[in-house]
Amino acid sequence: MILLDGKCLSNQIKEEIATEISALYEKDSSHKIGLAVILVGDNLASQIYVKNKITACLHVGIKSFQYNLKESTTDDELLTLIDELNDDDNVNGILVQLPLPPHIEEEKILAKIDPLKDVDGFTPYQVGLLTIGQKSFVPCTPKGIITLLERNKIEIAGRHAVIVGRSNVVGKPLMQLLLQKDATVTICHSKTKNLSDITKSADILIVAVGKPCFIKADMLNQGVILVDVGINRVDGRLVGDADFENVKDKCAYITPVPGGVGPMTITMLLQNTVEAYYARKNR
Ligand code: GUN
Repeated sequence: MILLDGKCLSNQIKEEIATEISALYEKDSSHKIGLAVILVGDNLASQIYVKNKITACLHVGIKSFQYNLKESTTDDELLTLIDELNDDDNVNGILVQLPLPPHIEEEKILAKIDPLKDVDGFTPYQVGLLTIGQKSFVPCTPKGIITLLERNKIEIAGRHAVIVGRSNVVGKPLMQLLLQKDATVTICHSKTKNLSDITKSADILIVAVGKPCFIKADMLNQGVILVDVGINRVDGRLVGDADFENVKDKCAYITPVPGGVGPMTITMLLQNTVEAYYARKNR
């Protein structure tokens, strides 16, 4: 079993990004790359993710603009803020942390973001580009997973990739990326029948369901590559969607939780923000 160390790789890529940004600032010190991060409400997990994103920005030289809005924020207030950020030349990327409080219409909010500043790749325009295989901002978690596989020289073409979870944030965009890399892709979800039969046929299994220790050894083929997107807090400890101790001997490769996919997600956000800077510059 080989651990897919996302923490180590993400640190390496962060250094690459920091070097690129400092070279950029040496050439043109008049403009800093800027990322606006909007958090609505007091979801503890979201607060931690946002803090980690801001710290990562600081580390590589991206200026962050943080907006912590109260739980009772209205759709209109949020739309007005996004409008202002769309027009602000100091802001290259806009990120609205999900999930939003239930009274807010998520689709309407995401659609308001200028697609050229959509570093999460959640606007309908960017989703469309990804779906037809054109250059787009790729959602950070799926992009991080592909990067983790590729930098570890794991072959994707021709393999059966099974994704458990069909979210807009992970499952669906990951399906597009794996297809583009010539995998045969199956998506499973809460209504899938005989889940184990399908997961057992996976060469690469990606799990993003938010259920602690959901994947067990008897659901896996020997030698599977297991990517665990879950981050679940159980008794004050972080565990994935796979039961790590139970499954690890069945896996050729496995991502740890924490230290697997999570750090990659944040680093891909930095990469997308640099891309957004160039996208605007070259408009
Ligand atoms: N919530 C969970 N993952 C993500 C993400 O990648 N981006 C945003 N904006 N919110 C999230």
